[in-house]
Amino acid sequence: MQKNVYIKTFGCQMNERDSEIMGQVLSSLGYIEGIEIENADLVIVNTCSIRAKAEQKVMSLLGSLRKIKAQKPEMKICVAGCVAQQESKQLLEKMPHIDLIIGTQHIYKIGHWLEEVQAKGHAIIITGMDDSFSIPDFIPGWRNSNLEKQNHPDFRKFVTIMQGCNNYCSYCIVPYTRGREISRNYSDIIDEVKYLVNNGIQEITLLGQNVNSYGCNTTTQASQPPCSFPDLLHRVAEVADLQRLRFTTSHPKDLSDELIRCFKDIEILCPQFHLPVQSGSDAILTKMNRKYSIQNYFEKIDKLLSSRPGIALTTDIIIGFPGETERDFLLTMDLLEKIRFHGSFSFKYSDRPGTASCLLPDKVAEEIKSQRLAIFQARQDDISLERNREYVGRRRR
Ligand code: SAH
Ligand code: SF4
Ligand code: F3S
Repeated sequence: MQKNVYIKTFGCQMNERDSEIMGQVLSSLGYIEGIEIENADLVIVNTCSIRAKAEQKVMSLLGSLRKIKAQKPEMKICVAGCVAQQESKQLLEKMPHIDLIIGTQHIYKIGHWLEEVQAKGHAIIITGMDDSFSIPDFIPGWRNSNLEKQNHPDFRKFVTIMQGCNNYCSYCIVPYTRGREISRNYSDIIDEVKYLVNNGIQEITLLGQNVNSYGCNTTTQASQPPCSFPDLLHRVAEVADLQRLRFTTSHPKDLSDELIRCFKDIEILCPQFHLPVQSGSDAILTKMNRKYSIQNYFEKIDKLLSSRPGIALTTDIIIGFPGETERDFLLTMDLLEKIRFHGSFSFKYSDRPGTASCLLPDKVAEEIKSQRLAIFQARQDDISLERNREYVGRRRR
């Protein structure tokens, strides 16, 4: 009998791709993805814990699922993603109506774990993490989804190229929820891109928490010759009929001249670069453990602009990191004026349990953080509008 699955995704593009992977796996087992929780036999909540607010949203959805499940006890609830990874057993204690808690390295086997839940008749938690984990060969097929209507096919897709992060920025939960950096075999990546392009996809975004260090870390490509991220871009760009290529996210410290040159040499690489800076103050960057200075950042931006004039630049900003003074904040505003980012994702600093910055003194008051964030975002909105106006009447790839 056909089963319906409802998948709710919180958080980043990596999570979006992970949801799609679970959708693909379940589709091969006969599930159809629907848009109504009430009709679902299985609900998957793919979670994010990057900031306290993100986690609260997850908890509130899980809370309301308790009522739905009380009406429909046969419905299964699976929690995946970063909250599942981090909270593990404690999550089941808080939310005993959950049937499966699945960590970030186990989504590929979701079918197997659902069968176990059915066979055992009780909740299962599978959140172990292994440094020698390898991302499986690519999963062919599509998610069987009512959302992807036949007559409105997608023209772009994400392809995950690596998992995890080794950077330990002092505020960040990701190294704890996603584990160590592991690069995927480049031949698997190329096979996946070819499959997608042969099925009508025109634009690919390569995904990882820090794509610049692709191939430098623990890797599943032991059996293959080394391949750096710029090498990978060249190889992917050679896939016949691929029209556009993008990637995200990059860490400024690992942005090499070779990668910058790719914007000159690879025509299908879109003129857009997301380079999270986090703060305009060197003192704060040091406390964040970011390992670059604002001077370094400017130099890289200059090189990018000469490699591909007109490249659109976007960034991430954290407002109110512990110890951020008015002067530090003004340095961030100054950076915004100088670079005039096309856009940015900016958020108030949020203490995450277990991270180094949690222990730092001089936490900035919530009210000050809100005021500074509002000032930053208002100025960014004006600049984004001006930047967008520059495109009026122009044709871009
Ligand atoms: N790997 C990427 C992005 C990681 S998470 C990178 O290094 O840039 C996305 C963004 O969330 C980060 O760039 C940062 O701006 C923000 N972020 C992460 N932890 C945060 C925290 N504790 N409080 C507020 N924002 C945070
Ligand atoms: Fe988090 Fe830093 Fe890793 Fe990005 S590079 S995921 S901000 S630890
Ligand atoms: Fe959130 Fe995890 Fe992505 S914490 S931002 S879902 S890596």
